[in-house]
Amino acid sequence: MKYYIDKLQKAYKHGLGKVLIGQAKKRVYYLLYVIYHFDKWHLYRPFETTNYKQMIVKIIDPILEKDSTVVDVGCGTGQILRHIRKSRRIGIDLDKQALQCGELLNKFTNPPIEYLEGSIATVSTLNTPVKALILTNWLHAYDDTWITENLCQLFKNNIVENCLVDEVFTQKDRIKNIFSKFGTATVIENDWQDKKNIFLFKINSPAAGA
Ligand SMILES: C[S@@+](CC[C@H](N)C(=O)[O-])C[C@H]1O[C@@H](n2cnc3c(N)ncnc32)[C@H](O)[C@@H]1O
Repeated sequence: MKYYIDKLQKAYKHGLGKVLIGQAKKRVYYLLYVIYHFDKWHLYRPFETTNYKQMIVKIIDPILEKDSTVVDVGCGTGQILRHIRKSRRIGIDLDKQALQCGELLNKFTNPPIEYLEGSIATVSTLNTPVKALILTNWLHAYDDTWITENLCQLFKNNIVENCLVDEVFTQKDRIKNIFSKFGTATVIENDWQDKKNIFLFKINSPAAGA
């Protein structure tokens, strides 16, 4: 019973319009899943009924200009990037199938998103300043050493200005402590739905001692 009350409360918070669009999108994504066989996770969390994805767009949009570059590592099918309207958008993921689905959705996306297979290390190969780097909903599965080593390599090139990360409630302060070695949190917000924290870090230049 509590499960259903909880669901109803969340639906009420999102609003009927968003719930209906989210449900319709889930069906479209199911068809895409049958074709591409990407990770099933991407079926379940449409943008319209996933609060943290909306928070990301609200935090990132104001810091972007038309000619900025925003990169989402772990972009999946590109759902978050599609809602960021300004700037050059680059999506990176290990999951080839999800990227192929994103490429198909590019037919309805203007300007198209650039997709690359890879991970954090791929960002350094872009050879372009990155105004905002998004890393959400996957870092929690990696250990501190992996994350720290990858960030050291990436940030020493001084190409990333801001980094948006999330921290699941079961790992309180872990991500915050790792990223605090590389920059200063300029935004800290809590997501009412998944109970996670969202941080925007301004990355120190290496000369500042990161
Ligand atoms: C749970 S989904 C989250 C998608 C999206 N970032 C979001 O917040 O909604 C995790 C995504 O991260 C990708 N991923 C996991 N480990 C990765 C890694 N080391 N490098 C790049 N992508 C990774 C997965 O393939 C998957 O698409």
